Amino acid sequence: FAAIEYYFYKRLDPKLKEKKVLITAGPTYEALDPVRFIGNHSSGKMGYQIAERFLEAGAHVVLISGPTKLTLNHPNLTLHSVQSAQQMFEVVQKEWGTSDFGVFAAAVADYRPAAVSEQKIKKSEEDLTMRFVKNPDLLKWAGEHKSEQQTLVGFALETNDLEANGRKKLEKKNLDFIVLNTLEDDGAGFGVDTNKISILDSHNNFTTFELKSKKAVSQDIVDYLKKYCS
Ligand code: CTP
Repeated sequence: FAAIEYYFYKRLDPKLKEKKVLITAGPTYEALDPVRFIGNHSSGKMGYQIAERFLEAGAHVVLISGPTKLTLNHPNLTLHSVQSAQQMFEVVQKEWGTSDFGVFAAAVADYRPAAVSEQKIKKSEEDLTMRFVKNPDLLKWAGEHKSEQQTLVGFALETNDLEANGRKKLEKKNLDFIVLNTLEDDGAGFGVDTNKISILDSHNNFTTFELKSKKAVSQDIVDYLKKYCS
């Protein structure tokens, strides 16, 4: 057994093994009342795939996941299952300071209902108006609390001006690089097993990748991070 374990240990990536990676994945659900929420169509696949690639390379992963159908088990994985942006934020605030890398792949709701009704909301009027308040931007917070040793990666879904909009977000959130998706590409986006990405980094390199499986895309992202850090 010792020999087999040693063989696998040797195969682990020297740049990633024993490193701590914080990953956010999936949608957030913002409660309206005890039975309803506002959410989005994120499946969580990208974030979970990235978590798997880091685990295979020997890293310790803290995965903060919104509600998804996915499962992941590994001795080096700590999984926090949350519902809302606020709950996701609380874990980010606890874990980011001791992390080496952050990969924020979650589709966090930008707004939540200003008040959560304690009782189920009854239908009455013909129309219904609700007030929403802004959620914290987890990625921006991590960028504001980033040290020299930490590397921070964000995602963005853009429908136009991919590179220019990406650059604005990269700078605003103090990221090392940003993974850009566009829904214009067939086979990219929510609910499918493939994705087409471009990466824009803080040295102004812009790289476009082919349409690939989400597994292959997650490997490209992890490889990019390794290269960026060396
Ligand atoms: N993000 C986050 N917390 C939020 C909102 C977004 O951590 N409250 C992260 C996402 O995980 C993703 C990136 O920020 O990595 C997306 O950036 P964002 O500016 O929210 O993208 P869009 O929603 O596309 O922004 P906009 O509506 O301004 O185009």
